[in-house]
Amino acid sequence: MHEITGSTRIMAILADPIHHVKTPQGINRLMRERGIDAVMVPWHVAPEGLAEALQALRGMRNFDGCIVTVPHKTAVPGLCDELTPGAARIGAVNVVRRLPDGRLRGGMLDGNGFVAGLRREGIEPRGRSAYLAGAGGAASAIAFALAQAGVSRLTIANRTPAKAQQLIDRLAPDFPAIAFMQGTDDPSGHDLVVNATSLGLNEADALPLDVSRLTADQTAAEIIMQPVETRWLAAAREKGCRLQHGAPMLACQIELMAAFMRGEPE
Ligand SMILES: NC(=O)c1ccc[n+]([C@@H]2O[C@H](COP(=O)([O-])OP(=O)(O)OC[C@H]3O[C@@H](n4cnc5c(N)ncnc54)[C@H](OP(=O)(O)O)[C@@H]3O)[C@@H](O)[C@H]2O)c1
Repeated sequence: MHEITGSTRIMAILADPIHHVKTPQGINRLMRERGIDAVMVPWHVAPEGLAEALQALRGMRNFDGCIVTVPHKTAVPGLCDELTPGAARIGAVNVVRRLPDGRLRGGMLDGNGFVAGLRREGIEPRGRSAYLAGAGGAASAIAFALAQAGVSRLTIANRTPAKAQQLIDRLAPDFPAIAFMQGTDDPSGHDLVVNATSLGLNEADALPLDVSRLTADQTAAEIIMQPVETRWLAAAREKGCRLQHGAPMLACQIELMAAFMRGEPE
């Protein structure tokens, strides 16, 4: 940790609970590597204190921005002064920038991190067909980012089908060139297969999709980071699929979130 002085810029991460977060280490390492005089600190903020905490940031001139995580992602959009188009469409914020005049701009970079992680591994989603399991917060962000990246077709399958349909209805008007549809647990016929449900966090969880339908020409992508290789990803390996693990999504997000908070061009 470099010395904190009167000119050090401040960033924070807001969560409840907070002890498990790993992002401060990542952001602080990045600041050190780049020789930037800025630090990130953890703020344990419960939902009832959220509005007050964000209001206080408007007057804090050495504050660059904050990362927002569980359980605040969907409450923060209503507390920002402006949102990026992605955050507005998804209805969730995971990063906030304090603008020079004190206004707060909310962004949502989960999906951008996922797509950047794919590209870092040499996987380009443009023009490819994608199957997405899940329609929760992370899945919504990934669906938006895959659409923005120019997939040709996006199939969304979710335990609660109405949520998959709502997500399709929100995205389809902005992306008329993309064929959106609701799917079953069968991922066949898609180039890219993504698990964005929370299934796999626990060993006893059911598989998020029918792994017997996977084929060697597909890329299987996971967003869960622990365990490093979930059961369905191990099954995809057996089938000869190309694998994308969960960690690159967060690694790429660290850089994207730092850039957003520090006011670099979006
Ligand atoms: N790598 C990263 O950087 C990164 C970033 C963000 C999140 N994540 C991971 O993404 C996962 C999802 O997070 P989230 O914020 O999107 O959660 P969320 O909003 O609660 O959504 C959970 C999703 O999983 C589905 N699901 C949950 N339990 C299920 C079950 N028993 N059977 C079938 N479907 C089930 C839900 O379906 P229903 O709609 O039917 O409930 C929903 O689609 C978490 O594991 C989180 O750790 C990773």
